[in-house]
Amino acid sequence: MPSTHTPSSSSTCQSAKLSRIFSFSVTASRIIGGGGGGGGGGGMFSAPFVLTFSLLLSVPILFLLVGPRIFPPTPLAAPISPSDELDDLSLFHRAAAASSFSRLASPNSKLKIAFLFLTNTDLYLSPLWDNFFKTAHSSLYNVYVHADPSANVTVPGGVFKDRFIDHAKRTYRASPTLISATRRLLATAVLDDPANAFFAVLSQYCIPLHSFKYVYSSLVDSRSFDLSSDSSANTDHGVRIQYKSFIEIISKEPRLWKRYIARGRYSMMPEIPFEKFRVGSQFFVLTRRHVLTVIKDRRLWKKFKLPCYRDDECYPEEHYFPTLLSMVDENGCTHYTLTRVNWTGTKNGHPYTYKPDEISPQLIRDLRKSNYSSSYLFARKFSPDCLKPLLKIAHKVIFRD
Ligand SMILES: *[C@@H]1O[C@H](CO)[C@@H](O)[C@H](O)[C@H]1NC(C)=O
Ligand SMILES: *[C@@H]1O[C@H](CO)[C@@H](O)[C@H](O)[C@H]1NC(C)=O
Ligand SMILES: *[C@@H]1O[C@H](CO)[C@@H](O)[C@H](O)[C@H]1NC(C)=O
Repeated sequence: MPSTHTPSSSSTCQSAKLSRIFSFSVTASRIIGGGGGGGGGGGMFSAPFVLTFSLLLSVPILFLLVGPRIFPPTPLAAPISPSDELDDLSLFHRAAAASSFSRLASPNSKLKIAFLFLTNTDLYLSPLWDNFFKTAHSSLYNVYVHADPSANVTVPGGVFKDRFIDHAKRTYRASPTLISATRRLLATAVLDDPANAFFAVLSQYCIPLHSFKYVYSSLVDSRSFDLSSDSSANTDHGVRIQYKSFIEIISKEPRLWKRYIARGRYSMMPEIPFEKFRVGSQFFVLTRRHVLTVIKDRRLWKKFKLPCYRDDECYPEEHYFPTLLSMVDENGCTHYTLTRVNWTGTKNGHPYTYKPDEISPQLIRDLRKSNYSSSYLFARKFSPDCLKPLLKIAHKVIFRD
């Protein structure tokens, strides 16, 4: 069941604002009317009743008048409708329930990587990914695509055919809809195949930086790939005993306070005090254990699904996952991502997008370099017309490890 009340059918910015003011005023009037509320058994139109009633009425009106001054203007919030929320909850519930049986169901199957693509345009670079998967054994991976239904995305052939998930819903920038879409992908992949052990979130602008074989062995087999942790701590007689999620988790960031405040000064309390608020890329690789944590979560989602008060610092998808996982299992996460991104000289929250004339073997080699692991495995963002030059160097450079 949804654990919080969401204003119903507030589809526009204005009505969302009004609902928020209204629900505040309801609370306020409850407090004000609290004293006499219990004993209201007298005559129907008795003077005290009328007085109380008009007092109650005046409170919402008062808030409608002064509310906009007290509360900062609400940005273009895309509220998640109760029916969408219920649809998601039922999916997450099924996935979590199925998962508790799945461990027994397939003891001998090989671990798989689920590649989760989040897109609101065509999958421009799909031929490159087709080549990436061509060398892989089909029993080692699954592909899932969440396509914004309003975007009329063309379903490409190859590995993406029939891999578009049901239940996909509209996504908006600066809103919790991107968190929902990611959770939907994770839950679908958990439910679809009990052998899915790693879940890599990607977008239409991502490229692979290595062959499938390299990616698979880095995540599944290698004991030296992760440079940040002492490999002996995670192994027992040379066997990996616990996998970590490759998710960026940053606590010291100059803009973090602004991001926290953008959600509303006290809106994250008491579940998420500022000291526990984290930021990190939404392109991560999670273990199945952590995916279950994410799809079972209600406590933090209750807060993160609320719209921001300011849209210029509103990227809830960059906070929800790192905050949740650092609260639940900080040591089970690497705190860094495997998806390279270039933030130099960018504005408006968009990273640098590579153009066709920049594609070169040297660029691929540069993008692989990581301070935390043997290599980055993926990179973004690449413009759609990068496809041709990327295909040209795919076999000689990208898939040559
Ligand atoms: C969706 O895309 C197809 C193919 O590109 C096009 O024929 C169709 O008119 C589009 N529909 C809408 C509603 O945009
Ligand atoms: C990052 O982007 C800048 C342009 O903003 C570019 O000059 C630089 O070469 C890029 N770095 C890498 C490693 O690609
Ligand atoms: C690695 O660390 C060095 C030194 O702090 C830094 O200059 C460099 O940009 C880092 N490289 C990457 C890929 O983050």
